Amino acid sequence: MPINSYIYRKSMKILKSTAISHPNIAFIKYWGNRDHDLRLPVNGSFSMNLEGLTTKTQVIFREDLSKDKLVLNEEEASGAGLARVSQILDEVREMAGLKIYAEVISENNFPTGAGIASSAAAFAALALAASKAAELELDEAALSVLARHGSGSASRSIPGGFVEWQVGDDDKSSYAFSIAPAEHWELADCVAVVSTGHKETGSTQGHPLAVTSPLQTARVADAPRRIEICRKAILERDFETFASVAEEDSDIMHAVMMTSKPALFYWQPATLRVMQAVRDWRAEGLPVFYTIDAGPNVHVITLKEKMDEVKAKLVGLEGVKDVLTASVGGAAKLLED
Ligand code: PMV
Repeated sequence: MPINSYIYRKSMKILKSTAISHPNIAFIKYWGNRDHDLRLPVNGSFSMNLEGLTTKTQVIFREDLSKDKLVLNEEEASGAGLARVSQILDEVREMAGLKIYAEVISENNFPTGAGIASSAAAFAALALAASKAAELELDEAALSVLARHGSGSASRSIPGGFVEWQVGDDDKSSYAFSIAPAEHWELADCVAVVSTGHKETGSTQGHPLAVTSPLQTARVADAPRRIEICRKAILERDFETFASVAEEDSDIMHAVMMTSKPALFYWQPATLRVMQAVRDWRAEGLPVFYTIDAGPNVHVITLKEKMDEVKAKLVGLEGVKDVLTASVGGAAKLLED
């Protein structure tokens, strides 16, 4: 029987939808939760979406499935990955009053292990595609909350451009919104890949460790100040201030990681080499700064007009295996099926 005859129909409509979204890079980082199940963060954060890097996800609710099915980059997934996806689907089913399982087919156009968090784009696309397939009409804030339940940073891949995720008072009020569209400032991210190797301690395992560092209290207490500076610098396109607060924030997060128990030490010799080079280039007048997530690869932010120059410089550094580039990306969006 052709597969379409299995697809569940409600009011004669096929319950299927496809969405795309972009990963994001945070300038003011999220590290640590006040509620791990709901992924309620201890501090607000700030990011931009990465254009050109995309996750495309199709969700189809089907009557013939006995459990949810996840196909990731053409391979069927099970275990923890599938459980995390099912959790979001459960929420959607509950809201829509649906009692059937879904097939989720997801593809990234960027390599895994390149230091680009795929979970942000993955859960943003899933939240949008699943809610639309179930015929729910969620507004941007509700979609951001739903995506957040899968991965905190996914909340920031729902709105477009430059995005703030407010810490909020409760589940409903901790969502992300755009403070400026992608066109506001032509920036670029050059990701210096120094390692594609073994799997690091992922952020889901890392967040609960944040509280074991004595530095986390200071990091969180000072976060509102850094957010204010970052917001103003982005709105005023003040690169110097932006560079200084973003590097400070990344360094503070890594100080917390390095002093947690067990310690999370993500930097490698080549990581430090890139950081030092970036500081030197900035001192020489090039608009450039670094920011690093839960891994050894370095996101080097610059103006789009300087992207090729920065990429060429990074490629020339010892230990840099590859450089991926992206400009500022838009919001998660639906595709026509
Ligand atoms: O959303 P998660 O659980 O993947 O955590 C993201 C953590 C960092 O990438 C290190 C920081 C951030 O705000 O994106």
